[in-house]
Amino acid sequence: MTDAADGVEVQLATADDRCFLGQMLEEAAGWDPQRPRLTPAQVLADPQLAHYVHGWGRPEDLGVIAEVGGRPVGAVWIRRFPADDPGYGFVAEDVPELSIAVLAGWRGRGVGSRLLETVAAAAASRGVGAISLSVETTNPARALYASHGFREVSRAAGALTMLRDVGA
Ligand SMILES: CC(C)(COP(=O)(O)OP(=O)(O)OC[C@H]1O[C@@H](n2cnc3c(N)ncnc32)[C@H](O)[C@@H]1OP(=O)(O)O)[C@@H](O)C(=O)NCCC(=O)NCCS
Repeated sequence: MTDAADGVEVQLATADDRCFLGQMLEEAAGWDPQRPRLTPAQVLADPQLAHYVHGWGRPEDLGVIAEVGGRPVGAVWIRRFPADDPGYGFVAEDVPELSIAVLAGWRGRGVGSRLLETVAAAAASRGVGAISLSVETTNPARALYASHGFREVSRAAGALTMLRDVGA
């Protein structure tokens, strides 16, 4: 699956993208420039973060990579979690949770929007009914999610859980 508009191509992530997803997880966890940045080792040592990418490539994992000139510039991915090991945006075991980040130099150019719509369509085609996410109330990404159909379903400890229906 490719989309070459604006020089950005999007394609499904594979197990080979595990390393880049780890890098994007670090970007997502470190979205707030006012806070000390976690190192890659710290991200992977935190079970509540590491489980977003650990063992990437399971049959139900679904991700999309945005590339420019063959180099990855952003990624979105969804993953299901069991109730006894939930993600921050857990809603139900059959509702995968979304993570997203774009490299700093590529933000604000529509890459994130492209990724969100691509993963929603790919998820729907696999029979996924809804996607959830967690976003801190102060993160400007919150407005982006709202403009792509995610609605708030709960709020706790400075973060929102949002949900978007993607099924038929
Ligand atoms: C959130 C993110 C993935 C959006 O990707 P993007 O390519 O910048 O998104 P788009 O260009 O399609 O849309 C831009 C919108 O995203 C939001 N946004 C969030 N953070 C932004 C940033 N650092 N720069 C620009 N836009 C940002 C704004 O609402 C913006 O809307 P506006 O143009 O009306 O102000 C990207 O900004 C990013 O990686 N941020 C840091 C990591 C992060 O916060 N991840 C989500 C954690 S829940």
